[in-house]
Amino acid sequence: GKSGYDHYMQKEIYEQPTSLRQCLRGRVDELEGEIVLEELADLAVEGPVQFVACGTSYHAALYGSALLQERGIPAQAFLASEYASERIPVGEDHLVVGVTQSGETADTMRALREASAAGAETLAVTNVVASSAARECDHALYIRAGPEIGVAATKTFASQQVALTALACVIGGGDSREVVRGLRSVPDKVQTVLDESTAREVAAEFVDADAYFFIGRHYQYPVALEGALKMKEITYKHAEGFAAGELKHGPLALVTERTPVFALVTGDGEIARKTIGNVKEVEARGAPVVAVTDGQSDVEQYADHVLRVPTSTPVAAATVANVQLQLVAYWVANMLGRSIDKPRNLAKSVTVE
Ligand code: F6R
Repeated sequence: GKSGYDHYMQKEIYEQPTSLRQCLRGRVDELEGEIVLEELADLAVEGPVQFVACGTSYHAALYGSALLQERGIPAQAFLASEYASERIPVGEDHLVVGVTQSGETADTMRALREASAAGAETLAVTNVVASSAARECDHALYIRAGPEIGVAATKTFASQQVALTALACVIGGGDSREVVRGLRSVPDKVQTVLDESTAREVAAEFVDADAYFFIGRHYQYPVALEGALKMKEITYKHAEGFAAGELKHGPLALVTERTPVFALVTGDGEIARKTIGNVKEVEARGAPVVAVTDGQSDVEQYADHVLRVPTSTPVAAATVANVQLQLVAYWVANMLGRSIDKPRNLAKSVTVE
């Protein structure tokens, strides 16, 4: 049942501290500051890594490829429906990672089968034990989020992020202590967001907006895409996520005083500074700005609303900040009386190409 929550989606958002702890259990060696993924003991990565996925899982894949690139490993994320091994060079030295909550998505399965036929090693990152992806791939990494009933992926996205972070440490090698520290603190930080979020008030203020835009850079770029997808699918309203730097190459023309812009600004480095530059551009055009921030930078100065998150490592900040966007989408949909757990036209598992 819904354990007292109004919707499964809400329950699953609030379950995240627990599901994330479950994902990390036994995988973090606290003494050595190392990640251990026992099920991948015989995974040897010799060459480039390709991710294939759809929808929310594709956003996790984009994040996963950024994590590997940061470790000097050539990596790329593909929409599974756009992946065709006869067009995209793939061969025996490649690892192809299918990111799929259900393990049954037809487009992702086809991409994995093509990659396997081309001689690539394959890995399923999935929530469902013995799913098609888990059975057919050479390796499987389980995200252990528990069953997700709401059609909108929430806790499974967070667990994909955490599992892919662990995977990047294992594949990338090197010193993982900072990442391990960040990972271990994610469940508590997500709990803090759930306890203190003002997303409901932000949703009430902007429930009548014409459209919602989300901007972020680097690890927060996939989070901007995910924030928009969640908003679209459960509120039926127009929402778009952009790489913050792309705004002035076209989308800025859409920005008005009726289109709130959610800016993901964590940390106080170069990436935050550049995104704040984009925040100033939208503010100058009269758009309301909602900053999702840990307060490290001065973005609040340019924001109409702040959704506060605890300070985290840059990698962990993407998981923590995303929870605020899940809550905003949930509350806007709730106020609009939408069918939150079963949005129109959508299915939990898409088994046709
Ligand atoms: C959005 C959503 C979908 C799925 C996509 C892939 O909330 O749930 O975009 O992420 O259909 O599904 P899986 O991960 O099962 O392959």
